[in-house]
Amino acid sequence: MGSSQIFQLVYVSVSSRPMVDQELHAIQTAAVKNNRTNDVTGVLLYNNGCFLQLLEGSRDALAKTYGRIATDSRHVRPSVLYYQRAEKRVAESWSMGVLNMDRLTSRSSIEDLLERFRAESEAVTSNEKPVETLMYEFERLSQENEAIQRASA
Ligand SMILES: Cc1cc2nc3c(=O)[nH]c(=O)nc-3n(C[C@H](O)[C@H](O)[C@H](O)COP(=O)(O)O)c2cc1C
Repeated sequence: MGSSQIFQLVYVSVSSRPMVDQELHAIQTAAVKNNRTNDVTGVLLYNNGCFLQLLEGSRDALAKTYGRIATDSRHVRPSVLYYQRAEKRVAESWSMGVLNMDRLTSRSSIEDLLERFRAESEAVTSNEKPVETLMYEFERLSQENEAIQRASA
């Protein structure tokens, strides 16, 4: 098995300055390029000066990718919340999906997502799958975002 085993890593960090779509887009472009090469998938959420990112891939690919990300000066204080082996990927169709939650009309926040993520990670009777819930929320909020963009087009 070895390198075919999939791991999932979730971290939060604080952006060095407020991010606008253009900067997030630049991050996404570099991320997609590298992640495709390294068979890494995941999503990145930005809200009110905070990042929350899910990365999935082999142990080596994650070490390499997270090692690079953690030293990026566009954010500080990266803190890993979750690192586990997974049965399968939850973000297999995203080389790196990016969502700017500041653009959502609903008052969803990274703080809310974090609270839920932590609670599910700590649940003893673990039918809870925190990473799947996170991905579900990402998909749901992305649809809201697309709806806004369609409405304003
Ligand atoms: C919040 C955040 C998330 C990032 N996510 C990724 C990622 O998933 N994959 C990646 O390769 N780079 C990611 N980056 C960019 C890296 O830190 C780094 O700039 C990039 O990998 C360098 O790529 P290059 O050497 O091809 O220019 C991220 C940066 C930030 C600030």
